[in-house]
Amino acid sequence: MDPRISLVDQGCRKVRPGDTMPPVEPTRTVDAEGYVEDIPYTYGYQPDLDPVRMERALRAAGIEPTVVATACELGYGQGLSLAIHAVAGGARWYGTDLNPVHAAMLRGLVADTDARIEVCAQTFAEFFARDDLPVFDFVGAHGVWSWVSAANRDRIVAFLQQRLRPGGVFYLSYNALPGWAPMLPLRDLLMRSVQAAPAAMPLADRIEQALRDVAMRLARDPSFEELHPGIEAELRAIRGKRTAYLAHELFNRDWAPMHPEEVAAILCRAGLRFAARVGEADGTAGGAAARSRFRREYWVMGESAAALAPQAQPVAEEGEGFAQRAAGCRLINSRLLALALESTDPSWLASPVSGGGVEVGYTTMLLLEAWQRGLREPDALAREAQATLSRLGQRLLRDGEVVVERDRSLALLTEEACALSSTTLPRLAALHALTFDT
Ligand SMILES: C[S@@+](CC[C@H](N)C(=O)[O-])C[C@H]1O[C@@H](n2cnc3c(N)ncnc32)[C@H](O)[C@@H]1O
Repeated sequence: MDPRISLVDQGCRKVRPGDTMPPVEPTRTVDAEGYVEDIPYTYGYQPDLDPVRMERALRAAGIEPTVVATACELGYGQGLSLAIHAVAGGARWYGTDLNPVHAAMLRGLVADTDARIEVCAQTFAEFFARDDLPVFDFVGAHGVWSWVSAANRDRIVAFLQQRLRPGGVFYLSYNALPGWAPMLPLRDLLMRSVQAAPAAMPLADRIEQALRDVAMRLARDPSFEELHPGIEAELRAIRGKRTAYLAHELFNRDWAPMHPEEVAAILCRAGLRFAARVGEADGTAGGAAARSRFRREYWVMGESAAALAPQAQPVAEEGEGFAQRAAGCRLINSRLLALALESTDPSWLASPVSGGGVEVGYTTMLLLEAWQRGLREPDALAREAQATLSRLGQRLLRDGEVVVERDRSLALLTEEACALSSTTLPRLAALHALTFDT
């Protein structure tokens, strides 16, 4: 996707296909401890959960990383990251998420591949109590720590002490203070409004109602802004966001942004040593505001991280199992392209060469999906992509301007479609992500 082009939601479909929960019989014996269960999460891919990226980040920090043979993702959401890493990479993966709809999605993504993966739909309490788990080289938890109960954070730490081997790496992302401080009073108002609504009302509707109620209260009573400077700006910033995202970001019972020093104290007490902060070296941690709100870090279990002995590196390309992983990537990638017809989230594919995800961008996903169905002409590919954007209530955003005219949008998509055969497809073929006849 042209880096100058992105998407803007026309605002008419905050609840999208897949945002509501199909009836699935829960098999758990422990409750969700206040975590949102009736709205499934978005379909994001998190590259920092890729052991290959972890190795790169540790080396950049002067630390020789461990070889990852066994890995585990805690709270995998819709499972795109876990599926891509298990199919494309060389490790044996485990993962758990309490939501059975998420587990079904992940199982569907990895079905009929040779991925070595155990997909669990257990709560952390249940999963950590098992005595049949291996010792892990890598454990990742993205978007989990700040959104679960203190008891679950304690369980995660105890699990790391028990199951992360010395030299093994823990990847953690969390909401940080003081960056999130202005949201605390707003989240309080929103939660009170959601809790005051009838319990029988679907959560998505209660969230919409809470956003409207709180907007009205802030408009009527200027003392809120006086007491909590920035509260109105916080509300404006979240009002356009999708319900599936907001439900998981702000409407769990627990929401605990922490000072980095507090997180560090907890992990150090558990025997972990700080290794690297994602994006710090290459500047991708975001601007100052983003940096102070959301942190992504790697921690190493045990003795001083820098003292680890160098180990043999696994060979990604053409090594053992490459053909199976390549076949698995082609299978999962066709599923990810199909998923792009339902949601604007998927924008990464799996590659057995990189051993993880490769970013292609959302509109390119749509063009590739149409290519996969046999279309070849750039304008036909663009028309298909445009039809999906319209159905999902999306418009292109070019250089910060919303592209309102359909013809202009089609022209931009056609331009991108023209680059498919010259640039995109050769790149993806070299990465063994997709194979196409021309
Ligand atoms: C904000 S989502 C993040 C999902 C995914 N890691 C990502 O970043 O795309 C947090 C996930 O943790 C899961 N979760 C929350 N509490 C849990 C618990 N006690 N046991 C297992 N999973 C839990 C939720 O179902 C949800 O899918």
